[in-house]
Amino acid sequence: MSWPKALHAKKLFLASKVSSTGRDAGQRQIAASFKDLQSERIDLMQVHNLQDTETQLQLLRELKEQGKVRYIGITHYLDSAHERLLEVLRREPLDFVQFNYSIGERNAERELLPFCADKGIAVLINRPFQRAALFDRVRGKALPEWARAELDAGSWAQLMLKYILANPAVTAVIPATSKAHYMADNLQAGHGRLPDEAQRRRIIELFA
Ligand SMILES: NC(=O)c1ccc[n+]([C@@H]2O[C@H](COP(=O)([O-])OP(=O)(O)OC[C@H]3O[C@@H](n4cnc5c(N)ncnc54)[C@H](OP(=O)(O)O)[C@@H]3O)[C@@H](O)[C@H]2O)c1
Repeated sequence: MSWPKALHAKKLFLASKVSSTGRDAGQRQIAASFKDLQSERIDLMQVHNLQDTETQLQLLRELKEQGKVRYIGITHYLDSAHERLLEVLRREPLDFVQFNYSIGERNAERELLPFCADKGIAVLINRPFQRAALFDRVRGKALPEWARAELDAGSWAQLMLKYILANPAVTAVIPATSKAHYMADNLQAGHGRLPDEAQRRRIIELFA
């Protein structure tokens, strides 16, 4: 697929990950990302799931120094890895971190999110729907009227995303979908009002 140049240059924030062990394998995978994205510059490169973190971060630092990558970061998707993410963030000057956070997985609220807010580290949130498992908790239930009236949320998905976006440490949330109509639904969460603390507690109760 070829991307329209104007869109590429102005509108897209290009992000990719490296999930390799060893410097040579990391270099090959990163080179493939540049080729696949058809770009000489990538906005964000991340070390995937803390795999071979030291070696891969060294590579990413070099690319940042050369101006080929704007920001660098690390990722994981499990609560059990949050402490390891924090250990890396405490010792390395990183721009971004990506981890799991949702109504069903709120461990990040204890330490990771406050730490990132305090240090000014950008936060990407993965697994916002717990890979769709959260939809099972509300299946057959009507979206409460106050979700629309008070928060401009038009679907359960939007309510779940607004819960996440309301945390001041969160920079962006990255829901996955293979369907254009889900993408359009999810994008709406970026509009309108976000819940305050009391409203966030009411949202949690809906999923209990
Ligand atoms: N370590 C890492 O770096 C890491 C680990 C895990 C995930 N991630 C990233 O995080 C992102 C989220 O990944 P995820 O797949 O784990 O979890 P997710 O976003 O929590 O869940 C995706 C699931 O939700 C469904 N869905 C999406 N929008 C919906 C909507 N509006 N209404 C109803 N259902 C909807 C999708 O259905 P359909 O498939 O039918 O569209 C899919 O089954 C991805 O970009 C992934 O690459 C990164």
